[in-house]
Amino acid sequence: MSKVEGLMRSHTCGELNESHVGQTVVLCGWVNKYRNLGSLHFIDIRDKYGVTQLGFADFKGDLALLKKCSLESVIYAKGVVAKRPAEAQNAKMQTGMVEVQVEELRVLSQCDVDRIPFLPHGAIEATDDLKLKYRYLDIRTNKLQNLLKLRSDTMQKVRSILVGEGFIEVETPILYKSTPEGARDYVVPSRVHPNHVYALPQSPQTLKQLLMIGNTDKYFQICKCFRDEDLRADRQPEFTQIDIEVSFPTQEYIKNLVEKVLRNLFNMPESFSVPVMSYAQAMRDYGSDKPDLRFGLKQYIVNDIFAGTDFAVFANALKENGLVKTFFVPAANANFSRKDTDSFVEVVKPHGGKGVAFFKVDKGERSGGIAKFITDDIHAKLNALFSESGDGTWLFFADADHDVVHNCADTMRRHLGHKLDLIEEGFKFLWVNDFPLLEWSDDRFFAKHHPFTMVKEEHVDAFINGDVTQKNGPLKDVAANAYDIVCNGYEIGGGSLRIFDQKVQKRMFEVLGMSDEEVKNQFGFFIEALNYGVPPHGGLAFGFDRLMMLLAGTENIRDVIAFPKTTSASDLMSSAPSVPSAAQLKELHFEWSKK
Ligand code: AMO
Repeated sequence: MSKVEGLMRSHTCGELNESHVGQTVVLCGWVNKYRNLGSLHFIDIRDKYGVTQLGFADFKGDLALLKKCSLESVIYAKGVVAKRPAEAQNAKMQTGMVEVQVEELRVLSQCDVDRIPFLPHGAIEATDDLKLKYRYLDIRTNKLQNLLKLRSDTMQKVRSILVGEGFIEVETPILYKSTPEGARDYVVPSRVHPNHVYALPQSPQTLKQLLMIGNTDKYFQICKCFRDEDLRADRQPEFTQIDIEVSFPTQEYIKNLVEKVLRNLFNMPESFSVPVMSYAQAMRDYGSDKPDLRFGLKQYIVNDIFAGTDFAVFANALKENGLVKTFFVPAANANFSRKDTDSFVEVVKPHGGKGVAFFKVDKGERSGGIAKFITDDIHAKLNALFSESGDGTWLFFADADHDVVHNCADTMRRHLGHKLDLIEEGFKFLWVNDFPLLEWSDDRFFAKHHPFTMVKEEHVDAFINGDVTQKNGPLKDVAANAYDIVCNGYEIGGGSLRIFDQKVQKRMFEVLGMSDEEVKNQFGFFIEALNYGVPPHGGLAFGFDRLMMLLAGTENIRDVIAFPKTTSASDLMSSAPSVPSAAQLKELHFEWSKK
């Protein structure tokens, strides 16, 4: 198909080569560089495709115009392509064999270079905040333009794979009702309905299920989700999902579909298949439900080995049904100094850890830390856990609270993985499945995924009849048909088979502590729909921004989003959020208490 004609330029700034010599061309772009060599003047003109040198030897106009061509001004240059003299040729530059001898020059938009906060090329001298405030300057850079292109290409690939599998893309509303995914809602007050609000979707979860009830069979959507939660390097308050739902699936179908998408996006071989690990194993071996498998430092629970120990920290944890975990760092990886081992406590403190116990082994001799509590018998049992044990350092994590132990061990493992440079190149994918359905916090149960996740068939009785007030009662062990897809320590997607039995769905809301009235108000429409013929269904949502982080090789989600927010959920460029006007408040029937 021929391209649409009618742009102001005839070529891009990355296009011209010796085959164009003699042609009259028009280039448009930003002034990247200006050189005045006395009688000779040169401008490097730049657009997203490259840079071309403009010469002015044949210029008939007023050379004073060049003074207006300040850096970052947008110009129009018409001229003839000429081969550069041999000494001026630059083979490293895409267009380095030629230049354009300008006959007509127009300054389309002059840049106030004295005030521009930073120049978006070369070594950029700007803080992250300044770059975010002037994001439109930062996205002039090749780095961000390439990332935007990669994001666009990836979206097209995903669409093409899913459409090829018979999925259709359906848009769902943004002004909607609460869709619980474990975060707070962003709400939008209604002008037409005084004292009423819409909630922005945390995900289109209920909507995609209703699409299945509505005979859509295979749905996907590349959609925005909104979650008011604490932000981190891999979280944004609004982010993008590749949301998928299908009728009559087995878990195997979802696995195969997701692996097809990943195989394609990450250029994996035909044989690519993602290993599966249970949630219980992931927690036991790595202290995390999204373990980074690019390096070892596997963990072990060593309660048995330390039963009867004299070391008070371990003894107390064990007395309170706690956990003692360890992992071993071979001497080949690290010989920790006193300063290193002293600093470990700082790594675990934010996770509730009070310290990291350790002892060192050098030529078979134990020393340091808790060495005096380690008998030959204990040492032999520890050695039996690790094939690579011998000389090195044993690290221990103990607490009455299992979550604290897992979190500290996980954080320390990741910290050392980075610090000791143990992380291999490439992508290590993993399915984590058999999640618990519920988790206990603040004296009640919460949904581990979301409240629409199917209970494993063999646990339905326990789920229906278990005592909701008992943290350690039968409900604790109820498992879900839920699965997460993990890569390099990131949860890049999560999903489940769904509850399609109204009785089970009602019970779920009851277990989560919702009154009949609350259920009716929030989910009455959904519960009712479960009366009218529901195909078994299930799906998954990829965190698209996290997929992009992996594909782009960045550890900051902001790099892959055109206009990201800061960790305090603000947009530095537009100063959003902002204070509403008195008129807006009145219209929205809002009482505002100014702080
Ligand atoms: P979940 O809540 O696990 O599942 O979200 C799916 C994926 O979305 C990504 N993600 C985020 N990415 C960036 N910033 C955030 N704040 C953020 N929160 C989540 C993660 C996550 O794996 N409705 C279900 C899916 C389903 O059951 O089908 C859901 O939203 O990569």
